[in-house]
Amino acid sequence: MVSAIKFFQLNTGAKIPSVGLGTWQADPGVVAKAVTTAIQVGYRHIDCAQAYNNQAEIGSALKKLFDDGVVKREDLWITSKLWCSDHAPEDVPIAFDRTLQDLQLDYIDLYLIHWPIRTKKGAVGFKPENLDQPDIPSTWRAMEALFDSGKAKAIGVSNFSSKKLQDLLEIARVPPAVNQVELHPGFQQPKLHAFCESKGIHLTGYSPLGSPGVFNSDILKTSVITEVAEKLGKTPAQVALRWGLQAGHSVLPKSTTEVRIKQNFDVFDWSIPEGLFAKFSEIKQERLIKGTFAVHETYGAYRNVEELWDGEQ
Ligand code: A2P
Repeated sequence: MVSAIKFFQLNTGAKIPSVGLGTWQADPGVVAKAVTTAIQVGYRHIDCAQAYNNQAEIGSALKKLFDDGVVKREDLWITSKLWCSDHAPEDVPIAFDRTLQDLQLDYIDLYLIHWPIRTKKGAVGFKPENLDQPDIPSTWRAMEALFDSGKAKAIGVSNFSSKKLQDLLEIARVPPAVNQVELHPGFQQPKLHAFCESKGIHLTGYSPLGSPGVFNSDILKTSVITEVAEKLGKTPAQVALRWGLQAGHSVLPKSTTEVRIKQNFDVFDWSIPEGLFAKFSEIKQERLIKGTFAVHETYGAYRNVEELWDGEQ
């Protein structure tokens, strides 16, 4: 059995488990087994989204785990996300209820606006003519109503730049608890990190391994990481995750492979010494998930990726 999980405290007072299982790109046919394995290993945080098209299968797995007494609902942290085609305030509670139904839950620990991008109601995918103008203040009011109802215990955003967070903070009655963004040693986002820290917004990192398999990225082969891994007797993936935890982020490694699910959770009872941690600043930085699918010279809100991320590199 690997060591007990650690937590980060949110501005709601709730404690978010620092390692969660990512489920993006986990096919419906295999995600139930991955979730079950993860919870048996000790994970207490599952990161979901309606857009991942696998919430119903995750819901069946969770129900079985509850029925079998493997874990109690109150000991689990479930995150889910509002999709871009559901930003209209009247659609937010409908989308949220569908997520509750799919996951077979009566509340969600954390509900996020998935992107600061809006597509037309009912749109599937990001065809240019589907792109619409987001109105984050009106969507956020609907998110706040979910928070008030107690069915979303915390609310937040994903893929927001410092500027978009600042704009949101100016109108928010309930400040976002979390901003979930791409974070890994190859994309450390120090400016966003400092901004979030100053505002009490917790950062969660998706693609914490640099999504090998998806982007053919070779972050896990970066010499700083392989050298630290060798020195500490850990795998590059564990080193990347441990870097995230020590930087103060919760991390969401995705895996559907049992041995890796276990390996990715074995990151609590050791640390990267300060001298080695400092070397991570030498790693070349590049955003992998650029959001090009949502930029267009005519349609939608963003003419180019600089506008989407407000120039944040
Ligand atoms: P798999 O699901 O076959 O294990 P990220 O979380 O950064 O998006 O990365 C997910 C990708 O990394 C998936 O392709 C996953 O493959 C792979 N992966 C997950 N854990 C590890 C690990 N410990 N070592 C190497 N690759 C891993």
